[in-house]
Amino acid sequence: MISIAIDGPAGAGKSTLSRKAAKALGFIYVDTGALYRAVGLKFLKSGADEKLECDIEDILSDTKVDIRFIDNEQHVFLDDNDVNDEIRTPKASMMASAVSAKPPVRAFLLEMQRLLAKENNVVMDGRDIGTVVLPDATVKIFLTASAETRAQRRYKELIEKGSEVTYDEVYEDMLKRDYNDTHRPIAPLKQADDAVLADTSECTFDESLELILSIVKERLGE
Ligand code: DC
Repeated sequence: MISIAIDGPAGAGKSTLSRKAAKALGFIYVDTGALYRAVGLKFLKSGADEKLECDIEDILSDTKVDIRFIDNEQHVFLDDNDVNDEIRTPKASMMASAVSAKPPVRAFLLEMQRLLAKENNVVMDGRDIGTVVLPDATVKIFLTASAETRAQRRYKELIEKGSEVTYDEVYEDMLKRDYNDTHRPIAPLKQADDAVLADTSECTFDESLELILSIVKERLGE
């Protein structure tokens, strides 16, 4: 099976670009951030806050996360409920970042991700796909852009969805998440030694997609 690992910070456009790239290649797209978001949502629903002063193992033992493909689109299910929209709120984002620093949470989601790549040609995006989840991925890309560019893109996306956020809030959240994701002791966000760096700060969406597809095709020898 062929696996394309795409890692990078929040707001780099990973999910939209990975989805499109997967479609162009005829692979399935696995958004691993959605899995962490679903676990974060469970903790929110259980009354926990970002400090996670709760019995993590206990909550996980009563948590079911799975993904199902509906019309070729990934839907993440938490305890058999489709939570695809609920996991996208700013609160769920912060909780996802908090829970993702916890080793039991990472262990809880690891096998599911590996199995998906074992059984399918995948484009899988996240933070540690090329470094931890699929160290032998066929192609590894580290997708990034400046924090300002990423905050602008995310802000626009949230406003279009009707969220009442300010750019400054989004930018602050972005910096906080970057810090959390790169400084956690377990599976921190970092570029794998054998990953190709793709900086899209100056690229339009179409140019970014072209860049990714050209990296993939070159690596696959096409
Ligand atoms: O990609 P995203 O913004 O949907 O990810 C949500 C959070 O989950 C992010 O703060 C980091 C975490 N995450 C992770 O630790 N490992 C992954 N493979 C994917 C996401």
